[in-house]
Amino acid sequence: MKYQTIRDVDVKDKTVLVRVDYNVPLDSDGKITDDLRIRASLPTLEYLREAGAGKIILLSHLGRPEGKDEKLSLGVAAKALGKMLPNVKFVKDASGTVVEKAVAEMKNGEILLLENLRFDPGEEGNSAEFIKKIIDAMGAEIYVQDGFAVVHRAHASTDAVAEFLPVYMGLLLEKEVSNLEKVALNPEKPVLLIIGGSKVEDKEPLIEKFTKKADRIVVGGKIAADGYKGGDNIYVAEDFDEDSSGAKLDVGPLSMTKIAGFITDAKTIIWNGLLGKTEDPAYATASTIAAEMIGEKEDAETVICGGDTTGFVENLMKDHPGLRYSLVSTGGGAALELLAGKKLPGLEAIKKN
Ligand code: 3PG
Repeated sequence: MKYQTIRDVDVKDKTVLVRVDYNVPLDSDGKITDDLRIRASLPTLEYLREAGAGKIILLSHLGRPEGKDEKLSLGVAAKALGKMLPNVKFVKDASGTVVEKAVAEMKNGEILLLENLRFDPGEEGNSAEFIKKIIDAMGAEIYVQDGFAVVHRAHASTDAVAEFLPVYMGLLLEKEVSNLEKVALNPEKPVLLIIGGSKVEDKEPLIEKFTKKADRIVVGGKIAADGYKGGDNIYVAEDFDEDSSGAKLDVGPLSMTKIAGFITDAKTIIWNGLLGKTEDPAYATASTIAAEMIGEKEDAETVICGGDTTGFVENLMKDHPGLRYSLVSTGGGAALELLAGKKLPGLEAIKKN
C-alpha cells in the first residue's frame, strides 16, 4: 500500500487545505531564527498553484500556547512566507466570521494562512467538531498533509480530519518519509543517537525506543542537566558548564571529549536536540563542537532533526559552508518516531492506494 500524494488528485479549481508545520524557532523578540520549515513547504505550494488549485488555505500551529497567546501568533510566519511567494494573506483566527469573510474574498491561487490552531483546545484535543468547523467554513474539498514535523501527534489537523476529507501527502512529507525510511532500513553501524534539547517528557520515551536500534545513545541538554539516569548503551553527560546560580547550561569539556570519540567512531549519526542553552553563545560550545565534527565527517550518514537543532546547524553553515549533513530534516519527534519504527497518526490518516 502506497500513500496517495497531491499528484494523485485533480486539484484544479478546488479549495485545498494544507497542514504545514510553521512551528519555527523564535528569539526573545519574536523573530524567526530559522525559516527552514517555511522554505520546505514551498514545493507543495508551488505545485498546487501550477496545477491550478483554487483557494489554498494553510493550517499550522506555533509553540505550545495555553489558549490565545499573541507571542505565538502565526503572523510572523505569514510575513516570512509572503517574502518567498506572492499573494499570501493571514487572518488572525482559525474559524468564525472574520475567516469566512477572508476566504470569500480570496481569488484562485491565493494563499491564506489561518491563526495558530493551538489557540483552540480542539486542535490538541483531536476534536472532530473543531476541524469540521474549519473545513465547512472554507468549503474545503481536499486536504493535504505536509506538516511532517507534527505527524506524530494525534491532533485534529493530523488525525480527526480524515473523518471528513480525503487526506493526500504533500511533497515535503513524501520526501521526508522516503529519506528517513532509507536511513531506518539498513543503517551502517555503529549507529549513534545524540539527544538533547528541552522537551524532556517527549525525549525520554524515545531514548528507550532507540536502545535496541542505536549502538550508542548520548544524552545532553536539559534531560541530562535534570539528572536523566541512562542505561546500558546510554552515555549521559557527566559534567556541565554552569552559570553563577549553578544552573547546568552546557555539556562540559570532560563529557564533550567522550562524545567526540563516539562521533568519530560512528557510521550513522542521528542528532536531535541541542546540547546546551545555545541562545547564549557562552553555552553553545558543546553544540558547536558536535555540529562541526558531524558536518566534517565523510565516512558516515548524518541526520540532523528538530527545529532548534536544524536552525543551529543551518546558521553555523552560513559561516562554515564546508559543513555537510546527509539529511537536515524538518521533523524532530516525528523524525525520531519514524526512525524508531513507530506508527505515526498523521501518516495513518493519509489515503492509501
Ligand atoms: C515539533 O516542533 O516537533 C512539532 O512542531 C511538534 O510540536 P510539539 O512537540 O509541540 O507537538
